[in-house]
Amino acid sequence: MNRETIIVLDFGGQYNQHIARKVRALNVYAEMLPGNSTYERISSFNPKGIILTGGTESVLAENAKLADERIYNTGIPILGICYGMQAIVRQLGGEIRACGKKDYKTEVITYKQDVLFDNIKSQGECFISCTDKIESIPPGFSITGSTDTCLVAAVSSEKKKIYGVQFRPELENTKQGNEIIANFLFKVCGCRGDYIMSSYVTEQLETLRKKIGNKKVLCAMSGGVDSAVCATLLHKAVGNQLTCILVDHGLMRKNEIKEVLEVFRDGIGLNLKMVDASDRFLSKLEGIDDPEQKRKIIGKEFIDVFAEGAKEIGKVDFLVQGTIYPDVIESGHDGSENIKSHHNVGGLPDVIDFKEIIEPVRMLFKDEVRKVGTELGLPDFVVNRQPFPGPGLGVRISGAITREKIKIVQEADFIVREEIAKAGLNKSIWQYFAALTNLRSVGVKDGKRTFDYAVAIRAVNTIDAITAEWARIPYEILANISARIVAEVPHVNRVYYDITTKPPATIELE
Ligand code: XMP
Repeated sequence: MNRETIIVLDFGGQYNQHIARKVRALNVYAEMLPGNSTYERISSFNPKGIILTGGTESVLAENAKLADERIYNTGIPILGICYGMQAIVRQLGGEIRACGKKDYKTEVITYKQDVLFDNIKSQGECFISCTDKIESIPPGFSITGSTDTCLVAAVSSEKKKIYGVQFRPELENTKQGNEIIANFLFKVCGCRGDYIMSSYVTEQLETLRKKIGNKKVLCAMSGGVDSAVCATLLHKAVGNQLTCILVDHGLMRKNEIKEVLEVFRDGIGLNLKMVDASDRFLSKLEGIDDPEQKRKIIGKEFIDVFAEGAKEIGKVDFLVQGTIYPDVIESGHDGSENIKSHHNVGGLPDVIDFKEIIEPVRMLFKDEVRKVGTELGLPDFVVNRQPFPGPGLGVRISGAITREKIKIVQEADFIVREEIAKAGLNKSIWQYFAALTNLRSVGVKDGKRTFDYAVAIRAVNTIDAITAEWARIPYEILANISARIVAEVPHVNRVYYDITTKPPATIELE
C-alpha cells in the first residue's frame, strides 16, 4: 500500500494516543507500535516519519524501553516527545541527570530558528515536565528551545532530521502544538496529507466487497456509533448479504430501540432483526443486587439471545465486530486491572458458527468512526451519540432491577438529555445521564408525605474515561433538571448531582 504513514512508537505515556490522533487529524495516517518494535517491523510500513512518545518511567531506569537504534541511521525523520526526546539523547550519546519527580506545568518557552518552529511565534506557553535534566546534547545536535526551568526544552539535528521536544505538543495546554506537529509532518517528513475519511470509505467498501464476495455476514447492532458505522459500511458494500441482530434487553434509554429501527431498518434499509428479550433479561435479573453479578447475567444472556437469533439465519461466513483502534492498542498492553467486567459483544465468537471476523473500523479512533458515520449519511444523533455501556441502564440502577426502576431512570434520563441539549451543552459535556440510587427517602408533595426514590445526575468530562472530572453545569440548568424530574417522573422526590471525580468514583454507578 502506498498510503503515507507515520509510525508512532509508544513508550507508555497516558496520552500517547493523542499523538496519533493529532497526526491523523492533519490528514496523515499514523499507526502506533510498541516503543521497542524492531527496525524490520517499523520499516515494513515504509514510514515517512517516526514519532517517539512520552512514557511513564525515566529513560535512566535500568530496563528503560528504548527504540531500536537502527532507526537513527536511516534518514527517516524522527521526532521525540518528552520521554521520546530523552531516549534520543541517551541513545545518541548525550548525557542526562536524574532530577526526581514528574511534575507537568505550563511554562513559557522561547523557540530558536528551526524548521520545526517555522511560522510560529518565538515565545509561547508549553506543557512541560522536566523530570530528568539533559546535561549535554548528542554530537551534531543544537538546542532549539528553552524555558526558565528547562534549558534543553527542544533539540534538533537538521542534518540527521532528528528532533526532540521536552514538552507535549499533542496536548491543548501547549499553544502552537498543532503547528509544530504540522511542521514535522509537512516540512520535515514531506507528507502530502491525503488521508481523508471519504477515501477511507471508498477503500473500505472495495476491500469489503472483495473479501466477502457473495458470502453471508452477521452483525450485532447495539445502537452505538461503532456498530452502527460497521453495519452501514457493510450494508453499502454487500447489501442484503448482511443480517444485523438487535437484542432489546429492556435496559435501553427511552425511545432508543424505536429510533434505531427507524434509522437503520426503515431508513437505510438494513436487514435488521430485532429480538425483544426484555422479559427474559428481567426475570434472570430478578432480586440480583450485586453489580458484578448483574453485569455477568446481562452479558451471558445477551450472548445466548443473540446466538438463538443467529441460528435462524443459518451458517454465516463472517461475523462483524466493532473493534476500534484504542481497543487494538490497549489489548497490546497488559497488567491493567479489571475494575468492572466490561460487556460488549466480546463472547460472541465462541457461540456463533462462522469462518472469519471482520472489523471494518479496527484502525480508526472514535472521532474518525464518527466522521465515517457522517460520510455515510448517518444522522447526527447516531454519529454523536454519547458512550453507553453494554449492560445499559442495568449499571445505572443501584440494587435489584425492576420495571418500575427502569421506567424511572428512562424518564429522568430523557429529561437530563433534553435540558442539556436545550442549554447547548450537549457537545461540550463528554457524558451525561441520570442514574437511580437505591435510596428512598421521605418527602412531601401536595401536602402529603412521600417515600420515594432519589435520582442522581452524572455529567463528566474526560479524555479517555480512565480519569474524569464532574462537569460544572450552571446551577440554573441543574435547577431546571431537578424541578422537571420531581414534577414529571413518578416516585422520585429527590435529585442529587454527583460531584465526584474518577477516581475514586467511576463514571457509571456500577
Ligand atoms: P466507568 O463506569 O468504568 O466507565 O468509569 C467508563 C466508560 O465506559 C463506559 N462503560 C462501558 N462501556 N461496556 C461498554 O461498552 C461496558 O460494560 C461499560 N461499562 C462502562 C461508561 O459509560 C463510561 O463511558
